[in-house]
Amino acid sequence: MIKFDFKTYVNNYFSSEELADILNKKKDVISKFSSSNMIGWTRELDQETIAEIKKTGSYIKNNFDLLVVIGIGGSFLGSYAFDKMFRKYFNDDKFEIIYAGTTLSSKYLDELVNYLKDKNFCINVISKSGTTMETTITYKILKDVLKRKYDSEELKKHIIITTDKESGKLRQEVNKKGYKSFIIPNDIGGRYSFITPAHLLPLSINYDIDKIVKGYFHGKRLIDSAYLYAATRYLLFKHGKFIENFSVDEENISYFCEWLKQLFGETEGKNGKGIYPTSTIYTRDLHSLGQFIQDGNKILFETFLRVKDNNNYIEYDNRNLNEINNVVIDSVIRAHSTGNVPCLEIEMDELNTENIASLIYFFQLAAAFSGYLFEINPFNQPGVEIYKEEVRKSLAN
Ligand code: PA5
Repeated sequence: MIKFDFKTYVNNYFSSEELADILNKKKDVISKFSSSNMIGWTRELDQETIAEIKKTGSYIKNNFDLLVVIGIGGSFLGSYAFDKMFRKYFNDDKFEIIYAGTTLSSKYLDELVNYLKDKNFCINVISKSGTTMETTITYKILKDVLKRKYDSEELKKHIIITTDKESGKLRQEVNKKGYKSFIIPNDIGGRYSFITPAHLLPLSINYDIDKIVKGYFHGKRLIDSAYLYAATRYLLFKHGKFIENFSVDEENISYFCEWLKQLFGETEGKNGKGIYPTSTIYTRDLHSLGQFIQDGNKILFETFLRVKDNNNYIEYDNRNLNEINNVVIDSVIRAHSTGNVPCLEIEMDELNTENIASLIYFFQLAAAFSGYLFEINPFNQPGVEIYKEEVRKSLAN
């Protein structure tokens, strides 16, 4: 179960009339959203695709030591964040997956090549456009490792491409070389692509994707909460709270904040508008950014993602440490709200794959609604193109 509290700690920041005004816009926002041609992520997945994903996931698990996922932004963050959340901190026993393609660090890639050279690995390269520089470079470098070991027939067994149905260099490569491939549908953008093979294939190796898909679409029931959350954030922004700090109290969940930052950052940050997303992990960051949040410039509000389970993993002084952690976070929320920091809470009774998949759908809805409240297109990212153009010009010289 997921519980939302967008009210308790934001009482004094805007009037009930302002809230009513934004809530009155709900019909209009939902109608704009429903008529968008980029909401393929609200469509149920066909059984054939699910079956093919599962089959390929088992193939990878049964035939290789590890999988290297190559992708960046919306083409990796969903499965990366999800996977990180459910791994053990130590002695993790899940199938190994390396997420590459997010850096041009030659040190990292050199070490990766050395790590992989004697391993039996499979590559899943994921790029909707098929032209993303970091992905292309990493793919070429790692494909060369495979080419040094295998002939073209054997190579085919080690490469899986997830890309657009028709366009782009990767699709051309699939057509030419006959590599196994999956499609990212036209009407789904990168950061909204969790419910596509881009994320479900890597996840299918270690998780029951039927549960993930079920949980994700369960998120449809959260539409009212998603709008209320979008409306609350928007009003806080109107009252000078320009930054949203996502806070978690579990290191593993912090990767989900990276997904959130991309979702909201690329969705809202346009035409000089939008809320800047950032994150903290508690209690660690109470001893760093906590000072700023409590006592610094009052430009931010905080959204706490909490798991309030009763598991008694370990005790301290005859008390359940989980309870102590919860008492600390409750206290932090009270302290920050008295410091003029509005706090919102999203609480799960259990950290499980269904709940997280539902939250993904919830946040995608909220981000899209927020885009319409800010009167920008939630589904493009023109700003990202500008650095790419600069790089193209500089590398051509
Ligand atoms: O959300 C987005 O659309 C972006 O973050 C893309 O996912 C990212 O730029 C990677 O693009 P591509 O999948 O075309 O390689």
